Amino acid sequence: MDEALTQRLLEAASTARDAAYAPYSRFKVGAALLDEQGRIHTGCNVENAAYPQGTCAEAGALSALVLAGGRRLQAVLVVGQADQPVTPCGGCRQKLREFGAPDVPVWVADPTGLRACYTIGQLLPESFGPGHLPATNPDASP
Ligand code: THU
Repeated sequence: MDEALTQRLLEAASTARDAAYAPYSRFKVGAALLDEQGRIHTGCNVENAAYPQGTCAEAGALSALVLAGGRRLQAVLVVGQADQPVTPCGGCRQKLREFGAPDVPVWVADPTGLRACYTIGQLLPESFGPGHLPATNPDASP
């Protein structure tokens, strides 16, 4: 993927991260998704006083992608700040896998820049997905 595009994703995810609502963890996260039409969709984490009701940045970005008619991921970028790269949580790996092939890149960044790049397949090997339910789920992501 070309560097200009990763920079655009980084900027979009960082802007989303600035908007995060994380008063409990103080751990802000932003996500940017590139869809099949080359559009970028973003999301941030939104926490809740009832802690389990909080949502991750990736989930918000996926909601924006689907709302805009997107169905396929071309790339994912997550930005957060920690000593180690902020990779998507387990639940978000499964959510991303619904719309992304195993070779889709997942970039991980912090406010200083890109830190690492994985693929959805590396983050969630041997995964369960829409292909397991073709008969019952004709509208599923191809
Ligand atoms: N969080 C995300 O939004 N995405 C991730 O990939 C990891 C964790 C959020 C959830 C919670 O609001 C905060 O980070 C601390 O776990």
